[in-house]
Amino acid sequence: MEIKKIFVAGAGLMGGGIAQVCAQAGYDVTMRDLTEEILEKSLKAIHWSVGKLVEKGRVKGATDEIMGRIKTSTDLSGAADADFVFEAIIENLEAKREIFKELDRICQQPTILATNSSAIPVTEIAEATQRVPKVTGTHFFSPVPMMKAVEIVKGLGTAEQTIEIADKLCRSLGKETIRVNRDVAGIVLNRINFPSTIEAIKLVEAGVTTVEDIDRGMRLGFGRPMGPFETADMTGLEVGFNAMMVVYRETRDEKFHPPMLLQRKVKLGHLGRKTGIGWYKYDENGKKLGPAD
Ligand SMILES: NC(=O)c1ccc[n+]([C@@H]2O[C@H](COP(=O)([O-])OP(=O)(O)OC[C@H]3O[C@@H](n4cnc5c(N)ncnc54)[C@H](O)[C@@H]3O)[C@@H](O)[C@H]2O)c1
Repeated sequence: MEIKKIFVAGAGLMGGGIAQVCAQAGYDVTMRDLTEEILEKSLKAIHWSVGKLVEKGRVKGATDEIMGRIKTSTDLSGAADADFVFEAIIENLEAKREIFKELDRICQQPTILATNSSAIPVTEIAEATQRVPKVTGTHFFSPVPMMKAVEIVKGLGTAEQTIEIADKLCRSLGKETIRVNRDVAGIVLNRINFPSTIEAIKLVEAGVTTVEDIDRGMRLGFGRPMGPFETADMTGLEVGFNAMMVVYRETRDEKFHPPMLLQRKVKLGHLGRKTGIGWYKYDENGKKLGPAD
């Protein structure tokens, strides 16, 4: 099966990144979101990122030529001639089931539908469609243009051929794939990472140390490019909170339960970079000013 046209549902942090790496790899992409404003904002961010990567010689080709491969739309009809669909809308089971049902109706019979969900099991989303064997999980990491890993997730009814096609496509985007044989909530890498982030928050909550020192320590001691609080501010605190809750509800394992401090911050709307405050404070250009509290 030759893949030429890709449809990306959702033009947020992840959908924009996925559309970008697809266009960089030479695919024709249509990116869909709810409003023109969101699409414009996303295109602007992609343009900036592609420009930087081209300038540094990390991506071949001209920025305009790459941007020329991305079309935008506020409706789903553009999915009709897509060979492959990446879904990266909000992390909400009902919203995802709804869009998969619609995509199932619109897309051609061989088209594969892949969810980028961090925590919702593929099987629960696939069940909303009449093409369960052609639904899989392709879990990218943020920021998508920089992070090499993609977890390829098999739902209960996903066909092996679907996994092979998704795996090959993601590798053609310059990614390395990690095969996941069962769609457990949180998949594999977040299942390992969440307890460590939760422990970091609990240590701050208990006054043992500070947000800044943990981030610095994790960078210097474990060679991570970013500490857990810096990562959470980039991702959005509510994204992590919701994903932890999905894993906690499925496992009932306390080690996945979001700590009180995280719950309070999400309630207050202190969601990270996008709201100007999360674990750190930011100026209007997104420059970090210092710790939030
Ligand atoms: N943020 C991360 O680090 C990260 C990492 C891996 C996976 N994910 C997963 O990727 C998905 C997207 O996350 P994000 O961080 O990009 O979220 P985001 O909030 O930045 O973007 C979601 C976008 O989906 C749009 N949307 C909502 N309903 C839609 C619909 N019916 N059709 C089209 N667009 C719709 C919203 O307007 C928004 O622009 C989620 O499932 C999330 O769990 C996120």
